[in-house]
Parts: sequence; C-alpha cells; structure tokens
Amino acid sequence: MAIERTLSIIKPDGVEKDVIGEIISRFEKADLHVAAMKMIHMSKEQAEGFYYVHKDKPFFNSLVEFMTSGPCVVMVIEGEDAISRVRELMGATDPSKAAPGTIRHDFATDIEKNTIHGSDGPEAASFEVPYFFSKIEMVNSEE
Ligand code: CMP
Repeated sequence: MAIERTLSIIKPDGVEKDVIGEIISRFEKADLHVAAMKMIHMSKEQAEGFYYVHKDKPFFNSLVEFMTSGPCVVMVIEGEDAISRVRELMGATDPSKAAPGTIRHDFATDIEKNTIHGSDGPEAASFEVPYFFSKIEMVNSEE
C-alpha cells in the first residue's frame, strides 16, 4: 500500500468541544502521522474557495458560515492508505449514520457540525493539501 497524504480539518465544533487532542490521538494510534498542522480562523473567501466543489449545493452558504464561525485545526495526515483510513476513522458525513467508535459518531452534532473533514480521494487531497500548506511547511517522513 502507498504512503499518502490527506488534508484533515478539525472544524469549529470540534475545537469548541476540546477534542483536538482526542482526534489526533486516534490518528496516531492508527499509525497515521501529523505531517503539518496549524490553527486558523478562515475568512469567508478562504472557506468558499476550499468548498468550491459544493458551491451549487443548498447547504453551501450555511457551511461557509459555520466554517468561519470559529477557529479550525487544519492538518496534513500521512501514512499508508491515509486518505481512506482517515475517512474510516471519521465515519459517515451524517453522524446519525456514523458507526460507533468513529469520530463523527462520538463527537459530531449534525450533518453540518460534523467535527471533522478529510479529503474524499486522491484528487481532492491534491487540491486540499496545498490549499493550506506549502511544501516547506510539511514534514516528509519518506525523505
Ligand atoms: P465535509 O466532509 O467537510 O464536506 C462537505 C461538508 O458539507 C460536509 O462535511 C458537511 O459538513 C457539509 N454537508 C454535507 N451534506 C450536507 C447537508 N445535506 N446539509 C448540510 N451540510 C452538509
């Protein structure tokens, strides 16, 4: 299996609930590693740009409003099969459908305030990782 990098965001509800450490711990226990991390409070333009693929969805404005409502922790997570494994640890988008033991099942409020984001595939990761991090800001465990 390939070593991959994926972009994950602990959303404003996760920061508010003080589960930053718990979420990172779940990644680390699954042998996934933080390659870059920072706390940011996104502007409207930054959130709109990040979620541009959803710009025609009915929930877009509300999603942008939520994502700009407080600080987020943005991270690059690295490891074998990191893209799909981070999504497994996250659970389904709608926390009422997320499996017990997943991050969204355990911490999310609803489909919008769902605590965490993870790139949904290699194409998304290749847009999302450099959206927040330059090469020089990332540790490369493979080098
Ligand atoms: P995320 O994985 O960050 O990707 C897009 C986000 O849009 C998703 O998590 C949810 O927070 C939000 N979202 C997806 N579907 C809906 C929906 N039906 N209603 C409200 N928000 C949604």
